[in-house]
Amino acid sequence: MRIAGRHYRTIWPEEGGAAVMVIDQTLLPFRFATRRLASLAEAAEAISTMVVRGAPLIGATAAHGVALAMRADPGDAALADALSILGATRPTAVNLHWALARMRDVLAPLPPRERPAAAAAEAAANCDEDVALCRAIGEHGLGLIAAVAARKPPGAPVNILTHCNAGWLATVDWGTALAPIYRAHDAGLSVHVWVDETRPRNQGAALTAYELGAHGVPHTVIVDNAGGHLMQHGKVDMVIVGTDRTTATGDVANKIGTYLKALAAQDNGVPFYVALPSPTIDWRLSDGLAEIPIEERSPQEVTHLLGQAGEGEPSLVRVVAPGSPAANPAFDVTPARLVTGLITERGIAPASSDGLRRLFPEHAPRQDR
Ligand code: MRU
Repeated sequence: MRIAGRHYRTIWPEEGGAAVMVIDQTLLPFRFATRRLASLAEAAEAISTMVVRGAPLIGATAAHGVALAMRADPGDAALADALSILGATRPTAVNLHWALARMRDVLAPLPPRERPAAAAAEAAANCDEDVALCRAIGEHGLGLIAAVAARKPPGAPVNILTHCNAGWLATVDWGTALAPIYRAHDAGLSVHVWVDETRPRNQGAALTAYELGAHGVPHTVIVDNAGGHLMQHGKVDMVIVGTDRTTATGDVANKIGTYLKALAAQDNGVPFYVALPSPTIDWRLSDGLAEIPIEERSPQEVTHLLGQAGEGEPSLVRVVAPGSPAANPAFDVTPARLVTGLITERGIAPASSDGLRRLFPEHAPRQDR
């Protein structure tokens, strides 16, 4: 992504490897600032406080967190501690556990003196792979958008609704749900994005709108409850969202409110696509509702909103009656039956066990091969 003419990934190692740099997403859209993470503790805190967020970027940051830990102490106990501390930062996004398992598999067999360099190399490889996977998702999703565009009057925009932020900021670059949109826009197709504000933390209003604006993609921010109405009136051609964990059967966990959009989409015959790199698939799970852990976050995210009065410093304001309790489940599960297709780096799969395994035969149970 380019911000003010400069290309950025969302995470990159500092020269010499003593620290990793990230974009502080808690300050967006009010201020674009980077943050230096120089230790395991700082990497873990950045994930749990959502300085970085979005399933693929959480995994990439965790990998770099292990690399920082190995620079400080490459011993077995330090490696085990790093894996366990980082593994406890956010419960729903499975990319975190995928990235940590990968770091463990590379590092555990090595003698400690070889671990710092190997950890840095593996964390960098993880980031490069994420960029390649997201770019491929963009290519496959572009075909879907182009097919809708071909059915519309010449020049009429394809209206795409998205929820939360599954863009460049949620990955190392490109995004998942937004990658096809960027590719379509760059290819000269007319696209317009309905951006769900995505309460409570407003990742849509704050982050998706910010990055679409920076790339020049036409978009309109709507309150979370507007999507159904827009679909009833023919103003949404397709929905594309991301996911934090998808089961081997195609059930999809994503930011709270995604399920309601899928229900509205089905009622109105609007295709509902989920874009994901394969590290977001949890091949061990078959029942998303029963098996995917749903993060419960602080009630303060519901009772208070971050905003900016005029040009002043951003500050939190209370929006809920003092004394009223608030609940904050951060994700919900959309059953596979409501998902039109999964846009992956290998192509578009039906949201089903067979569909996913046809694209990823290496994950088929042995007797199915
Ligand atoms: O709580 P967040 O902001 O980390 O949640 C992110 C989402 O729900 C995204 O839509 C999802 O991670 C897909 S990211 C490509």
